[in-house]
Amino acid sequence: MKQKFVVEGFAGKKKLNGEIKINGAKNAVLPLLAASVLLNKPAEFSNVPKIEDVEKMLELLRNLGAEFNWTGERSLKIAGGKIFGNALEHDNAKRMRASILLTGPLLARFGKVSFPHPGGCVIGERPIDLFIEGFKKMGASVSEKDGLYEISAPKGLVGTEFFFRVSSVTGTETLMMAAIGAKGKTILKNAALEPEVVCLAEFLNSRGARISGAGSSEIIIEGGCELKESASSADKIFPIIPDRIEAGSFLVLGALAANNLKITNCQPAHLDSLIEALRFSGVAVEVGNDWLAVKNNGKIANEMRRAVNIKTREYPGFPTDLQAPMAVFLTQVTGESSIHETIFEGRLNYTADLEKMGADIKMWDSHRALVKGPTLLKGKELDGPDIRAGLAYILAAIIAEGESVINNAYFIDRGYERIEERLQKIGGKIKRVDCEVC
Ligand code: EPU
Repeated sequence: MKQKFVVEGFAGKKKLNGEIKINGAKNAVLPLLAASVLLNKPAEFSNVPKIEDVEKMLELLRNLGAEFNWTGERSLKIAGGKIFGNALEHDNAKRMRASILLTGPLLARFGKVSFPHPGGCVIGERPIDLFIEGFKKMGASVSEKDGLYEISAPKGLVGTEFFFRVSSVTGTETLMMAAIGAKGKTILKNAALEPEVVCLAEFLNSRGARISGAGSSEIIIEGGCELKESASSADKIFPIIPDRIEAGSFLVLGALAANNLKITNCQPAHLDSLIEALRFSGVAVEVGNDWLAVKNNGKIANEMRRAVNIKTREYPGFPTDLQAPMAVFLTQVTGESSIHETIFEGRLNYTADLEKMGADIKMWDSHRALVKGPTLLKGKELDGPDIRAGLAYILAAIIAEGESVINNAYFIDRGYERIEERLQKIGGKIKRVDCEVC
């Protein structure tokens, strides 16, 4: 049954308090699950978030023949050794862009993969040309009919040098995994620098891969290494890195609506760009080894903060995934802030809903908007359009006056585990409601 969130707003008052713990990163666990296709021996991961996208990726893997079981509350063991299929199940693959991650390891292992054009959310066109060009450069042939792709390399993939015209996170991850099964060395240039790419390389190296340079713009993969069980028992259970987008969103929430809020189990170094933007605006962000905190002490009103311009960039720049929560913040501070979304052409569409709540936002074009603050937002009924904007609506609802209803809880569940329970623990007035028609 469809569900929605009902949120009672604080009308700009700072009422949240306490600690909130960050879960493992969605965008780190999805490539690691895909990587299990390359392994003959099982892999075990800890800090796995229990979210819809993980379920969907497991479903895709199960359909290919993988076996898995939860070994603890957030620990998951997966055996990719029994995988026999190389065709992605259409419905799930179409519904999740990250399904494309499976194509690299399947092609490396079977010399063949077929899949539908991967879907995703409404944030932009999301082409796959870079993946296709990369596979072709590795010697594969590609055919496409009615949105169904067949890629094959019957004689195996060969190492190559590939320059990403546009830096792509899942593109880098997918070609990195394909290159493990290729003959010879692959050099990926203008590779994505995101921490999730580094996490994947570290996992693969712990299983015998030879990948160097992850986290820099040039990644070198020595192909043809047989992946094995981890050498040391310490590496046997591989921890998923904390979700920087979840941590960043809660930091923004803390700045907006908390008396004092501590965000634990996170990696602050992954959030430098957000922390700098918030500090520029006047938010006192405290940074520890694995925690962040905002102390408003009930005194700092949002209008005492100043406007700040945001331009989304690849890591370590301002993350596109934090752009919508930050826009909510900007509606509350004093002055004019510009938002320049450089990664996805549809990622400012949600601003129309914030305007319905009373925000003063002018769109210059599909990539640029001007936000004037402060404005008191009013509770409204909204349809969550995608994972990140969906969470931003919850933030907006928490600071708004009156009640808001956020339909399509499913989108938020795709990326955030039991969000309502975690927000209730710090004082949020939010509940999940079943609905017949949402
Ligand atoms: N692009 C191309 N051709 C391609 C691939 C990408 O032109 O073949 C372009 C895209 O259109 C975009 C740019 O490259 O303009 C960057 O997109 P990228 O490929 O890096 O995005 P992605 O790998 O599909 C990941 C995250 C997204 C996140 C982006 C940007 C995962 C599973 N997804 O997507 O996360 O927004 O990187 O950081 O890692 C989310 O979690 O809600 C989410 C959308």
